Amino acid sequence: MAKRKLSRYQELSGLENVIELEDYHPETVSPHRGRWCESVFGNDAPLILELACGKGDYTLELAQRYPNINFVGVDIKGDRIWRGAVEALKNKLTNVRFLRIYIDHITNYFSEKEVDEIWITFPDPYLNEKKENKRLTSPMFLEKYRQILKNGGRVNLKTDSPELFFFTMEVIEDQKLIIVSKVLDVHGSKHDVPNMDILTYYEKKHLEDSRTIYFVSFKP
Ligand SMILES: C[S@@+](CC[C@H](N)C(=O)[O-])C[C@H]1O[C@@H](n2cnc3c(N)ncnc32)[C@H](O)[C@@H]1O
Repeated sequence: MAKRKLSRYQELSGLENVIELEDYHPETVSPHRGRWCESVFGNDAPLILELACGKGDYTLELAQRYPNINFVGVDIKGDRIWRGAVEALKNKLTNVRFLRIYIDHITNYFSEKEVDEIWITFPDPYLNEKKENKRLTSPMFLEKYRQILKNGGRVNLKTDSPELFFFTMEVIEDQKLIIVSKVLDVHGSKHDVPNMDILTYYEKKHLEDSRTIYFVSFKP
């Protein structure tokens, strides 16, 4: 591992706004499960997750815009989370935490109906069909989100991958889910979906490569 990455990994566990993967066993659940707002944030505000958050661009910006909502950025990559966590501390964002876990285990960290909304920002599209289950909008993942989301809670997907976008649309159609909004070209068409102006690290790179950005918000 590169020296800089390694030192960020080592620093991560000392950051007060980061909760790290412990030795994972399928039967162990996080002590925060079911008590995030009360025990972690010390309030009863709504709770929003950003999955595949990387450096947490949506988490950080939404937290500034909505100081009365709690945000948790979730990713497995420690050096990326380190960036977001340090930025949140620098900006004194008390409504932000980062959680370093595999999203596959999300139900061990959040309990039934604990989460108000989920953002999924530029997840890996896993184009190989054999890896379909790894896509963060596959039926397997949607089942997990359904468990932790409150009734009526939304999943918001922003992606540059037409394959992942249309795969998600098929899942939505197969499962007869409600679409709240859908934009086929976020930066090149007229729409009134809020917070689409927030650009993530990967999104900026995709825009430099003139890629189209897709968005869909739905209720799983
Ligand atoms: C392409 S990056 C996007 C990062 C960020 N959202 C952005 O737009 O800049 C995808 C991220 O998803 C994370 N990821 C993918 N599958 C994951 C999983 N099952 N559990 C945790 N993190 C995952 C990767 O670690 C990576 O940081």
